[in-house]
Amino acid sequence: GSHDPTSLRTPIVAVLGHVDHGKTSLLDKIRGSAVIEGEAGAITQHIGATAVPLDVVSSIAGDLVDPDDFDLPGLLFIDTPGHHSFTTLRSRGGALADIAILVVDVNDGFQPQTLEALDILKRSQTPFIVAANKIDTVPGWNANEDSPINATYEAQSDRVSSRLDESLYEIIGNLSDEDFSADLYWRVQNFQRNVGVVPVSAMTGEGVPDLLAVMMGLSQRYMKEEMEIDVQGPGVGTVLEVKEEKGFGTTIDIVLYDGTIKADDKVVVGGMNQPIVTDVRALLQPRPLAEIRTESRFEKVDEISAASGIKVAAPDLADAMAGAPVRVVRNRELDEVVDEVEAE
Ligand code: GTP
Ligand code: MG
Repeated sequence: GSHDPTSLRTPIVAVLGHVDHGKTSLLDKIRGSAVIEGEAGAITQHIGATAVPLDVVSSIAGDLVDPDDFDLPGLLFIDTPGHHSFTTLRSRGGALADIAILVVDVNDGFQPQTLEALDILKRSQTPFIVAANKIDTVPGWNANEDSPINATYEAQSDRVSSRLDESLYEIIGNLSDEDFSADLYWRVQNFQRNVGVVPVSAMTGEGVPDLLAVMMGLSQRYMKEEMEIDVQGPGVGTVLEVKEEKGFGTTIDIVLYDGTIKADDKVVVGGMNQPIVTDVRALLQPRPLAEIRTESRFEKVDEISAASGIKVAAPDLADAMAGAPVRVVRNRELDEVVDEVEAE
């Protein structure tokens, strides 16, 4: 790319959808690990952030993503729970997102939380694509591990591919019932006006190259101006989780969506009763590609810029709340920052 990649903000991609439709599995496939540590086959109960650098995106997407065509540092995926009782977490994930993936099980089709997620995306006007997941479960499917969708389509019998088409057109019909004009992604010209549907399998990896290529294209094309805003300014983020951590006391897992945070910054965090003013003791980063909420081995970093998932260790965080704002003070007036946190 022509820009310095570090000057562009990583797009935040929320992954939304009905329970069990395969959101975590899809991220897991992208992360490349087979088992979701501590959560294999279980219901997701938190929001988790997974950073995927550009070189990893392009190595998975192969010919579909040429890293030289992109100025973006990568993608930050936000996993959300699909269980009906976690509406707040879904809205929070949706609110953080620049773009989104709505995961729909091809067999199960539209379900209550699919509609709820659509509503969140509609209200926040977040551009999104639909991942029509579990294509490998179409009876008679001939799996081609990690293949782009056109290659694996060609390898299916007519009966199998028309069976898949039927399910895909049902999803396209459901989207149109909700006033979204949608089509298979390779027929979509303008992804802001039309919703692209990408057939995928989180199990076999088929279509995952296409999914990443479309996400990169969508980010580059429609988010760029916004992402070139001041990425070096005092950081702004949201608390995902408040957690006890051995050796660090109470810590907060945050998604930083703007600016930077440094290991010696003063920060203001939304608290149970009033904003908490505290000094960062350590910024703890999970290993690359690991998920912030499951990774137990951290690396201390001096500074990190948006968008990222990061664990912040600091005194007095016991009253911090999930969903609350976090703001770095640095060269700003403390009172002003406290007022902003109080107002959010
Ligand atoms: P919640 O977080 O609870 O909303 O569920 P989720 O959307 O994250 O679903 P998860 O990834 O946990 O997957 C649910 C089940 O579907 C697991 O048993 C997965 O192994 C299975 N699954 C997910 N994707 C695929 C797929 O592409 N093909 C097949 N055959 N199974 C899949
Ligand atoms: Mg999940």
